[in-house]
Amino acid sequence: MANLEKTLVLIKPDAFSKHYSGDIIKIYEKEGFRIVAMKLLKMDERLASIHYAEHIGRPYYEDLVGFMTSAPIIAMVLEGEDAIARVRTLNGKTNPVEAAEGTIRKLYASSGSRNAVHASDSPENAEREIHIFFNETEILDGKYQPKA
Ligand code: PPS
Repeated sequence: MANLEKTLVLIKPDAFSKHYSGDIIKIYEKEGFRIVAMKLLKMDERLASIHYAEHIGRPYYEDLVGFMTSAPIIAMVLEGEDAIARVRTLNGKTNPVEAAEGTIRKLYASSGSRNAVHASDSPENAEREIHIFFNETEILDGKYQPKA
């Protein structure tokens, strides 16, 4: 593949609590992305401050952290051709009102702050964010051969 990338995806508390996780994962898999790492966890304020470091001090930061620590999330690493940009296209714009038809946020988000999913926005952030949630032994690229 010309540009095989990994990206971090979070299924956020709103989507997890409404039992949308399976439907969301199915969208990524149907598009051909491979799940190479996955875990269920509850974010705490410290983890949120690391993941959302660039947003500290913004007017919405407290609300964002309150939301992201309110219920479990699923963190996963997806691998595929141009995964960083393509996953963000599948997710749709931050605000579901502006998101394209068929995107995950159009289907499952209720507002610009309760917006179902997060995905890395650049190769630098993908590398940084993946290693906030996973160590190298938990990322199974090249370590198994799927039968299907
Ligand atoms: S994006 O997707 O990075 O371009 O979105 P951006 O507009 O830069 O927003 C960055 C993240 O902050 C969240 N956000 C908010 N949370 C709570 N309240 C308000 N008002 C708000 N505005 C933006 C937004 O969902 C983005 O979260 P992530 O997890 O990065 O998608």
